[in-house]
Amino acid sequence: MILHKFKNQADLDRAAADLFISVVRAKPNAVLGMATGGTPVGLYKEIVKTYQQGLVSFKEVTTFNLDEYVGLPVSHPESYRSFMQTNLFDHIDILAENTHVPNGNATDIDAEGRRYDEAIYQQGSVDMQLLGIGGNGHIGFNEPDDELSRFTHKVTLKESTREANKRFFNSIDEVPTHAITMGMGSILHAKAILLVVKGQEKAEILDRTLNGPITTQVPASLLQTHPRVIVMTDCDVTYKVS
Ligand code: F6R
Repeated sequence: MILHKFKNQADLDRAAADLFISVVRAKPNAVLGMATGGTPVGLYKEIVKTYQQGLVSFKEVTTFNLDEYVGLPVSHPESYRSFMQTNLFDHIDILAENTHVPNGNATDIDAEGRRYDEAIYQQGSVDMQLLGIGGNGHIGFNEPDDELSRFTHKVTLKESTREANKRFFNSIDEVPTHAITMGMGSILHAKAILLVVKGQEKAEILDRTLNGPITTQVPASLLQTHPRVIVMTDCDVTYKVS
């Protein structure tokens, strides 16, 4: 893993956006893995700014989002499809048919998971996967457990995750209890991964991700097994190499 530390989130957002933009410049038909939540909002703003300056085009880019809530209407402002439209897709020249978000309203969620994985594997692999991290070490919505799933699947959200996400809703009762998420196999299949971690409150889980044992109880610790992971953070952490 490569750890880049930043003094402030504005610099971090710019650097993260620049990394994604450099992938698209090098490969205009790149496949990008996208995340939602509070973490990527600033970096998506920077990407939009660069697009508006005419410095990058997403016409040939394909995207796959990590996850979506189950049972939340797509039109709900907090669905991850709505999030992506509002924060990124509506402001750049990406083609609608090239943006993929799992369908959390599919009647058969298992079949939807299989369809989603096939769509990813048809593209070969994701060139650059963006990740945030949950306070409990989840990536995507792969929550800590004795076992983790390889493929896109339905998950029950931990209460701590619903608590953390209630800030986007009127109350915790409105936060969905389930989600559909890319599995660990699909995430680790990406050629390169950018993990963005913001806020000192995530320093401890980031330390366990970087330096702790590789364990399904901290799903992000599995990133230690991937050859190309870049971590960008404003947390005060170190990466121990021995
Ligand atoms: C979002 C996702 C989650 C979030 C994580 C952190 O698509 O997959 O893993 O990245 O819950 O959320 P924030 O950024 O809101 O702290």
